[in-house]
Parts: sequence; C-alpha cells; structure tokens
Amino acid sequence: MLASIKPLIILEPYMEKPTKKKRNICCIGAGYVGGPTMTMIASKCSEIKITVVDINKNRIDSWNSADLTKLPIYEPGLAEILSKVRNKNLFFSNDVKGAISKADIIFLSVNTPTKIKGIGKGKASNLEYLENSVREIAKYSKGHTIIVEKSTVPVKTAETIELLLNSSCLDNVNNEKKTYSVISNPEFLAEGSAIKDLEKPDRVLIGGKDQNAVKEIKELYLSWVSSEKILTTNLWSSELSKLTANAFLAQRVSSINTISAICEKTGANIAEVSRAIGTDQRIGKNFLNAGPGFGGSCFKKDILSLVYLCIYYRLDEVAKYWENVIAINNWQQDRISRLIIGNLFGTIENKKIAILGFAFKADTNDTRESPAIKISKNLLQEGAKLSIYDPKVEEEKINFELNSCFDDVACSIDKSKWKKFDSIEDTLKGADAVVLLTEWEEFKYLPWSNLFKLLRKPAWIFDTRNILDPNDFCSEGINLWINGIGEYSN
Ligand code: UDX
Ligand code: UDX
Repeated sequence: MLASIKPLIILEPYMEKPTKKKRNICCIGAGYVGGPTMTMIASKCSEIKITVVDINKNRIDSWNSADLTKLPIYEPGLAEILSKVRNKNLFFSNDVKGAISKADIIFLSVNTPTKIKGIGKGKASNLEYLENSVREIAKYSKGHTIIVEKSTVPVKTAETIELLLNSSCLDNVNNEKKTYSVISNPEFLAEGSAIKDLEKPDRVLIGGKDQNAVKEIKELYLSWVSSEKILTTNLWSSELSKLTANAFLAQRVSSINTISAICEKTGANIAEVSRAIGTDQRIGKNFLNAGPGFGGSCFKKDILSLVYLCIYYRLDEVAKYWENVIAINNWQQDRISRLIIGNLFGTIENKKIAILGFAFKADTNDTRESPAIKISKNLLQEGAKLSIYDPKVEEEKINFELNSCFDDVACSIDKSKWKKFDSIEDTLKGADAVVLLTEWEEFKYLPWSNLFKLLRKPAWIFDTRNILDPNDFCSEGINLWINGIGEYSN
C-alpha cells in the first residue's frame, strides 16, 4: 500500500502586496526631483496615470521633446525609462488646474530655495512656491486628496499646508466639502545616480497622521520596494530626517576636506586615510572623497534650514555646530583658489586658466551651488581669463551662475573674461593651469602626453577630485597638485 503523501506546507513570510488601485497622480514641479521620481513611479505602476505640471512652459516642452537629448535634465538611464512611459501613463503638462482637479494624490516637488530677503534671510527656506502650489490645490482639488511633501521642507511645514488647505475647503462649484491628508515622503535620490536610487532605495520614508493615507502611499512603493525598506514615522520625524540625512552627509564631506588639508602638510595621503578609516564598519566607506567642497541644491540649503530651526528654538550651540560644516565648505573652495594663485607665482592677471568640469558632481548637468562657481569667480576676480569645458553643462547656465551674487565675490562678470569650449584641446590651448573640478569619467583617462604640448610652461594641473594618475605627469615643465597629497613629485 502506498503511503499517503501529505501535502508539503511551506510557510512563506508575510509579504505586503500593492493593491494596484487605479489612481490619478499629479506632481507639481517638473525638476530634478519631480521628473525622475514620477518617471520611476509610472514605469513601476502602469495602472496609475501621472501628470507632471510646471509653471515653466519651456521645461514642459523640453520634457515632451521627441529628441531625448533635449530633456531638461541629464540623468543616466532616465531617457530610456521615460521613452517607455511618456504619453502612456506619464504626461507632462502646463495645465496645473486640470491636473489638480483630477488628482487623488498630489506630490509637491517645487523648489524651496534659501530666502534672500526678510526674516530668516540667508538661512530659512523660501516656501513661496510651495505656498502658491498649495493655494492652487485648495482652489481646484475635488473630494479627498492626499498631498505629499516631496520637496525638502522645514520641520512643521505640513502644519502650514494643512492650515492653508483647511481655510478654503468648500468646493465652490459643487458646494461639496473638500478634505485633505498631508503626508511627508522626502526624496533621497542623488543626482547622477537618481534612477538607481529610485529603483533600489536604501529606504522609503513616509510620515503622516492619517494612517489610511500613509497606507495608500506605501502601496504605491510596494510595487517595487520591499515592505521592510518602507519606514513609516510621524510627520515631524520624516521632515526632520531628510534635513538630518543631508546634514550628516555634508558633514562627512567637510570632515574629509579638513583632513585632506592636514594630509598635504604632513605627507599623509588622503586616499589612503579614507580607505583606512572607511573599512571600519562604524564609519563606512561612502562619502569620504576629498574634493573642492560639496555643491548641489540640497546640502547647503538644508543645513541652513536646520540652523534656522535651531536658532528659532534657541539652540544656539547646535546652530553654530552645523554652521561650521558650511564654513569649512567655503574655506575649502577659497583654500583651493588661493593655492592655485600661489603656485602661479602669486599673480594670475591675464593668465589663462582651464576649468575642467562645471557641474557640482559627475553625471549631471546641474550647476546649483557647484564649487566651480566660487572657485571660478575667485580666479576671475584676481584677473585670470577662464576657458571652461563641461560635457553636459550649457553655456547659458555657466553665464547665469557666474553672474550670481553671493559672499564677497563680484556679482557680474565681464563676458570677455571667460569662454566655454566644446573640446578639451581647445580649452587647454595656451593655458597656464588646468583646474579639474568635476569627476567626469572622461577626465580620468585623458591623453596627457599630447595635451601637455598645448599648455604654456611652466604649467600646473590642479586635481581637486583626486582622480588623476600621477604617473601620467612626469614631463618637463608640468607640475601636478592633487587634493589631499599636495604638490606631486615622482
Ligand atoms: C527639489 C526639491 O523640491 C527641493 O526642495 C529640494 O531641496 C531639491 O530638489 P528640484 O526638483 O531639484 O527641487 O528643483 P527644480 O529642478 O528647480 O524644480 C522645481 C520645479 O518646480 C521647477 O521646474 C519650477 O518651474 C517648478 N515650480 C516652481 C512650479 O511648477 N510652480 C511653482 O510655483 C514654483
Ligand atoms: C544629496 C543627497 O545625497 C540625496 O540623498 C538628497 O536627496 C539630495 O542631496 P546630491 O546633492 O544630488 O544628493 O548629490 P551627492 O552625491 O550627495 O553629492 C553632494 C555633493 O557632495 C557633491 O558636490 C559631491 O561632489 C560632494 N561629495 C560627495 C564629495 O565631495 N565627496 C564625497 O565623498 C561625496
């Protein structure tokens, strides 16, 4: 007799599953955050219709451009995914009113720059754009709407949003009551690796009071992110976590940059020090690359926002602590400018200096807060002529940045003092120095022995990113300075 075969019961861990509800999402702000984030959600949730709106018509036109090289932002892998979902379940439009009125969920991805006037000037975030968007939502939304703060905002902003929404919550047309749930779901993507960060996030953070709304947003991410990576918190923890994450990351960059200066004085090598400390699991190996200082739209703005929060709550020592992370960043940019001038015999009047890289990091066309801005302005102020090359940054953006006002550097720059070139050879022709500021892959393998001929000797190469191979630089009349090592001699 055959023994009866018992069915084998396999106990699988409980997995939360997405419900794949049909939903209409509107995202206000088609920038570096809104564009890639909505592209990823659209590609992972085909049942959801997403409309990304923006008040800037040119931006929307660029997002809709048939030529994918004309997208408003350069981000590796973005164009490929976008081409699969655009005009299927992802739309870019200027019709803010229409998109709001149809939306169940609205993501706020407008910019929140540091205030340049009034109370909190130079520290507090300017919430003007966010407020304008919320007022539009109050006017045009229908029924119940979940509002998601994607933009980085000061702690307690959700309270302001709720106040604004609740003071105008009657639908004028239908005489129906409108209701809202405000959720914080900060973005942790880094430019240049945004697609990878969105596809495989270390965590997704969702903060909110209304647990149904938190669940809805969680279900969206469950389409491709496992539930243990989705953290839910209260609203304020979520808002503060975003500021804290950026402040900690920026602090690491400032810390390693102080050590790079000590390395140059002592004969230690920053790359070796970074490797040695990074193998300690408690420290970890990421964010230990010395450079010309951190840039990007977030780090400085978010630390300033944290500082403002501390001052508001009279935590002056804490404010000073974080302010110093920015002070070190400014110092690093000035230190590099000074040592360039020093090595060129103390004067750079009418000398030609080649700038390699204007983006704030590799793999992006974003120049916001790029260290290249301050260093270039410092050099121009000392009388240098700059030739600039960046594989992705357009001349218009460089012009805008060089004419921006901050610190004590000159606001406007005479256009005859700098020129953007499309080839490295043209950029280097006749230059007394080359300053490498962005770690673009193509800069790591340049044919230096050919390029040296183009330079006026004695010439200097300043590698602020520590990416060049010193063995390529044993040539008469060529001097090499590497960040965290100093003047290199074979
Ligand atoms: C984002 C976040 O929103 C910001 O808080 C974070 O700190 C940095 O990243 P980002 O996407 O990088 O901003 O900004 P940006 O590329 O400037 O895009 C914002 C978009 O919002 C712009 O295209 C702007 O035109 C749009 N906008 C602004 C609106 O559509 N409506 C407004 O009222 C204001
Ligand atoms: C940052 C955060 O990483 C991201 O989570 C948040 O959502 C937005 O702000 P981003 O500014 O796009 O992202 O780039 P990031 O890679 O953090 O670099 C910021 C700056 O630090 C760049 O200028 C970069 O060159 C510099 N950096 C970074 C260093 O100088 N050394 C390092 O080791 C790492």
